[in-house]
Amino acid sequence: MTSVLVRRLIASDAASLRQLRLDALVETPESFGSSYEEEHTLTLEDIHAWISPANDGAMFGAFADGVLAGMVGVGRQRMLKMRHKAHIWSMYVAPAQRGRGLARLLMQAAIAHARTMRGIRQVQLSVTANNAPAAALYASLGFDVYGNEPEALCVNGKLYDEALMSLPLAGE
Ligand SMILES: CC(C)(COP(=O)(O)OP(=O)(O)OC[C@H]1O[C@@H](n2cnc3c(N)ncnc32)[C@H](O)[C@@H]1OP(=O)(O)O)[C@@H](O)C(=O)NCCC(=O)NCCS
Repeated sequence: MTSVLVRRLIASDAASLRQLRLDALVETPESFGSSYEEEHTLTLEDIHAWISPANDGAMFGAFADGVLAGMVGVGRQRMLKMRHKAHIWSMYVAPAQRGRGLARLLMQAAIAHARTMRGIRQVQLSVTANNAPAAALYASLGFDVYGNEPEALCVNGKLYDEALMSLPLAGE
């Protein structure tokens, strides 16, 4: 049986994270705003900055038998007037490990972290409108759709709408 561990990523995970992120951008380019072309030149120093951001954000990894198989990031909006909002980014589980609860564990870790971030009132994310598995995951964790961006992404000439979702944390 595969052992699964979800934990916050640390500097020594940078090489594995870099590889998983590039795998994700190649496998499901329509799931991410960024692209392989923009990230394949990133150095381990660049990835360190994701793992140890200047603000109070964090990245979490899911390890299957010790191998990084899933990731998610949670960050704080930078601008002064938006610092009460956190966002989820880079949600991905490698195909071989899907359907085993890794994404749910990762999201629970990211949301728990957002709850520790001072003054955060909501967690936001966007999901490509045809991505039923991800939308179902987020809805099951309490996220609601608050908007829709038509033609949000253009990937290899194909246009994709995105649903905008948020999870309120205020008042808890
Ligand atoms: C979406 C993704 C992260 C789900 O990862 P996963 O580890 O397989 O998900 P889990 O096993 O934790 O499932 C959690 C929930 O997601 C939903 N879900 C997962 N796979 C699903 C599927 N094939 N169909 C419908 N719902 C699905 C369900 O709500 C599930 O809960 P349940 O098992 O209680 O029904 C994964 O498919 C993935 O990486 N996809 C490509 C990248 C991507 O779409 N990222 C999201 C960008 S917004």
